[in-house]
Amino acid sequence: MDKTKTVIITTAVVLTLLLIAVIYIVNRQRTQEAASRTVNTETSAPQSETEDTQPTSEASATEDNSGSSSPETMMYTLEEVAQHSTKDDCWMAIHNKVYNVTDFISRHPGGDAILQGCGKDATELFETKPMGSRTPHSERARENLENFYIGELKQ
Ligand code: HEM
Repeated sequence: MDKTKTVIITTAVVLTLLLIAVIYIVNRQRTQEAASRTVNTETSAPQSETEDTQPTSEASATEDNSGSSSPETMMYTLEEVAQHSTKDDCWMAIHNKVYNVTDFISRHPGGDAILQGCGKDATELFETKPMGSRTPHSERARENLENFYIGELKQ
Protein backbone atom coordinates (compact mmCIF):
# COMPACT_ATOMS: atom_id res chain seq x y z
CA MET A 1 0.00 0.00 0.00
CA ASP A 2 2.79 2.43 1.01
CA LYS A 3 4.65 1.58 -2.14
CA THR A 4 1.61 2.48 -4.27
CA LYS A 5 1.36 5.80 -2.43
CA THR A 6 5.04 6.56 -3.10
CA VAL A 7 4.60 5.74 -6.78
CA ILE A 8 1.55 8.02 -7.03
CA ILE A 9 3.29 10.89 -5.23
CA THR A 10 6.44 10.51 -7.34
CA THR A 11 4.36 10.49 -10.54
CA ALA A 12 2.48 13.59 -9.41
CA VAL A 13 5.72 15.41 -8.60
CA VAL A 14 7.27 14.46 -11.96
CA LEU A 15 4.14 15.57 -13.85
CA THR A 16 4.06 18.89 -11.98
CA LEU A 17 7.72 19.51 -12.80
CA LEU A 18 7.03 18.68 -16.46
CA LEU A 19 4.11 21.09 -16.49
CA ILE A 20 6.27 23.86 -15.00
CA ALA A 21 8.94 23.18 -17.62
CA VAL A 22 6.38 23.38 -20.46
CA ILE A 23 4.92 26.64 -19.11
CA TYR A 24 8.45 28.08 -18.79
CA ILE A 25 9.37 27.14 -22.38
CA VAL A 26 6.11 28.49 -23.85
CA ASN A 27 6.56 31.75 -21.92
CA ARG A 28 10.12 32.15 -23.10
CA GLN A 29 9.06 31.64 -26.71
CA ARG A 30 6.33 34.25 -26.32
CA THR A 31 8.77 36.78 -24.85
CA GLN A 32 11.20 36.16 -27.72
CA GLU A 33 8.41 36.61 -30.27
CA ALA A 34 7.31 39.83 -28.60
CA ALA A 35 10.92 41.09 -28.57
CA SER A 36 11.40 40.39 -32.28
CA ARG A 37 8.08 42.07 -33.01
CA THR A 38 9.31 45.20 -31.20
CA VAL A 39 12.48 45.20 -33.26
CA ASN A 40 10.40 44.85 -36.44
CA THR A 41 8.15 47.76 -35.61
CA GLU A 42 11.18 49.83 -34.65
CA THR A 43 12.84 49.25 -37.98
CA SER A 44 9.70 49.57 -40.04
CA ALA A 45 8.40 52.70 -38.31
CA PRO A 46 10.73 55.09 -40.13
CA GLN A 47 9.60 53.45 -43.34
CA SER A 48 6.03 54.64 -42.87
CA GLU A 49 7.23 58.10 -41.96
CA THR A 50 8.72 58.35 -45.39
CA GLU A 51 5.42 57.79 -47.10
CA ASP A 52 5.12 61.51 -47.69
CA THR A 53 8.37 61.40 -49.61
CA GLN A 54 6.65 58.85 -51.81
CA PRO A 55 9.20 56.10 -52.01
CA THR A 56 8.79 54.26 -55.26
CA SER A 57 7.36 51.03 -54.02
CA GLU A 58 6.37 49.58 -57.33
CA ALA A 59 7.69 46.10 -57.66
CA SER A 60 7.71 46.24 -61.37
CA ALA A 61 8.53 43.04 -63.14
CA THR A 62 11.53 44.53 -64.90
CA GLU A 63 13.28 45.67 -61.73
CA ASP A 64 12.45 42.59 -59.80
CA ASN A 65 13.87 40.21 -62.28
CA SER A 66 17.30 41.32 -61.21
CA GLY A 67 17.35 39.63 -57.84
CA SER A 68 15.60 37.74 -55.14
CA SER A 69 13.46 40.71 -54.15
CA SER A 70 9.88 40.04 -53.17
CA PRO A 71 6.91 41.82 -54.77
CA GLU A 72 6.80 44.21 -51.77
CA THR A 73 10.41 45.31 -52.13
CA MET A 74 10.73 49.03 -51.61
CA MET A 75 12.82 50.89 -54.16
CA TYR A 76 14.60 54.12 -53.22
CA THR A 77 16.54 56.55 -55.35
CA LEU A 78 19.78 58.13 -54.14
CA GLU A 79 17.84 61.40 -53.89
CA GLU A 80 15.45 59.78 -51.40
CA VAL A 81 18.36 58.37 -49.43
CA ALA A 82 19.92 61.85 -49.39
CA GLN A 83 16.88 63.16 -47.50
CA HIS A 84 17.95 61.06 -44.52
CA SER A 85 21.43 62.36 -43.81
CA THR A 86 21.43 63.29 -40.13
CA LYS A 87 22.33 61.40 -36.98
CA ASP A 88 18.64 61.31 -36.00
CA ASP A 89 17.57 60.04 -39.40
CA CYS A 90 20.31 58.21 -41.20
CA TRP A 91 19.88 56.05 -44.28
CA MET A 92 22.68 54.76 -46.42
CA ALA A 93 23.06 52.70 -49.55
CA ILE A 94 25.60 49.88 -49.44
CA HIS A 95 26.04 47.54 -52.40
CA ASN A 96 22.75 48.72 -53.94
CA LYS A 97 20.72 48.03 -50.81
CA VAL A 98 19.27 50.75 -48.62
CA TYR A 99 19.58 50.67 -44.83
CA ASN A 100 18.05 52.83 -42.12
CA VAL A 101 20.82 52.67 -39.52
CA THR A 102 19.49 55.46 -37.28
CA ASP A 103 18.94 53.15 -34.33
CA PHE A 104 22.44 51.72 -34.65
CA ILE A 105 24.44 54.96 -34.65
CA SER A 106 24.78 55.17 -30.85
CA ARG A 107 25.92 51.53 -30.76
CA HIS A 108 28.37 51.69 -33.68
CA PRO A 109 31.73 50.32 -32.47
CA GLY A 110 33.50 52.82 -34.72
CA GLY A 111 31.71 55.77 -33.07
CA ASP A 112 30.66 58.77 -35.14
CA ALA A 113 32.59 57.60 -38.20
CA ILE A 114 29.35 55.98 -39.38
CA LEU A 115 27.78 59.44 -39.75
CA GLN A 116 29.92 60.07 -42.82
CA GLY A 117 27.82 57.52 -44.67
CA CYS A 118 24.42 59.05 -43.85
CA GLY A 119 22.38 60.04 -46.91
CA LYS A 120 24.89 58.58 -49.35
CA ASP A 121 26.02 55.59 -51.28
CA ALA A 122 28.35 54.50 -48.49
CA THR A 123 29.63 51.34 -50.13
CA GLU A 124 33.19 52.56 -50.37
CA LEU A 125 33.22 53.99 -46.83
CA PHE A 126 31.82 50.72 -45.50
CA GLU A 127 34.38 48.66 -47.37
CA THR A 128 37.43 50.83 -46.67
CA LYS A 129 36.90 52.67 -43.32
CA PRO A 130 39.26 55.45 -44.45
CA MET A 131 39.13 57.17 -41.03
CA GLY A 132 39.89 53.96 -39.17
CA SER A 133 41.79 50.77 -39.85
CA ARG A 134 41.26 51.06 -43.63
CA THR A 135 39.96 47.51 -43.60
CA PRO A 136 36.54 46.23 -44.73
CA HIS A 137 33.88 45.65 -42.07
CA SER A 138 33.75 42.17 -40.58
CA GLU A 139 31.23 39.43 -41.39
CA ARG A 140 29.57 40.22 -38.06
CA ALA A 141 29.08 43.83 -39.16
CA ARG A 142 27.58 42.64 -42.47
CA GLU A 143 25.16 40.32 -40.70
CA ASN A 144 24.15 43.13 -38.37
CA LEU A 145 23.57 45.40 -41.35
CA GLU A 146 20.75 43.12 -42.53
CA ASN A 147 18.70 44.15 -39.47
CA PHE A 148 18.46 47.65 -40.91
CA TYR A 149 17.54 46.76 -44.50
CA ILE A 150 14.62 48.77 -45.85
CA GLY A 151 14.82 48.28 -49.61
CA GLU A 152 16.78 48.33 -52.83
CA LEU A 153 18.59 51.24 -54.43
CA LYS A 154 16.84 52.30 -57.60
CA GLN A 155 19.45 52.85 -60.28
C1 HEM B 1 29.45 53.58 -44.01
C2 HEM B 1 29.75 54.21 -42.91
C3 HEM B 1 30.61 53.58 -41.85
C4 HEM B 1 31.87 53.93 -41.52
C5 HEM B 1 32.68 55.05 -42.14
C6 HEM B 1 32.30 53.03 -40.46
C7 HEM B 1 33.52 53.10 -39.84
C8 HEM B 1 33.94 52.26 -38.85
C9 HEM B 1 35.19 52.40 -38.11
C10 HEM B 1 36.20 53.50 -38.32
C11 HEM B 1 35.24 51.39 -37.23
C12 HEM B 1 36.34 51.15 -36.17
C13 HEM B 1 37.15 49.91 -36.43
C14 HEM B 1 38.14 50.05 -37.55
O1 HEM B 1 38.72 51.12 -37.72
O2 HEM B 1 38.34 49.01 -38.26
C15 HEM B 1 34.03 50.59 -37.40
C16 HEM B 1 33.75 49.43 -36.73
C17 HEM B 1 32.59 48.71 -36.85
N1 HEM B 1 31.49 49.09 -37.59
FE1 HEM B 1 31.40 50.59 -38.88
N2 HEM B 1 31.30 52.16 -40.19
C18 HEM B 1 30.24 52.45 -41.02
C19 HEM B 1 29.05 51.80 -41.06
C20 HEM B 1 28.71 50.71 -40.31
C21 HEM B 1 27.45 50.03 -40.39
C22 HEM B 1 26.29 50.46 -41.29
C23 HEM B 1 27.52 48.97 -39.54
C24 HEM B 1 26.49 47.92 -39.22
C25 HEM B 1 25.20 48.13 -39.23
C26 HEM B 1 28.83 49.01 -38.91
C27 HEM B 1 29.29 48.10 -37.98
C28 HEM B 1 30.53 48.11 -37.42
C29 HEM B 1 31.05 47.07 -36.55
C30 HEM B 1 30.30 45.82 -36.09
C31 HEM B 1 32.35 47.45 -36.22
C32 HEM B 1 33.36 46.65 -35.37
C33 HEM B 1 34.46 46.13 -36.28
C34 HEM B 1 33.94 45.15 -37.32
O3 HEM B 1 33.18 44.22 -36.94
O4 HEM B 1 34.26 45.32 -38.52
N3 HEM B 1 29.52 50.08 -39.41
N4 HEM B 1 33.26 51.15 -38.39
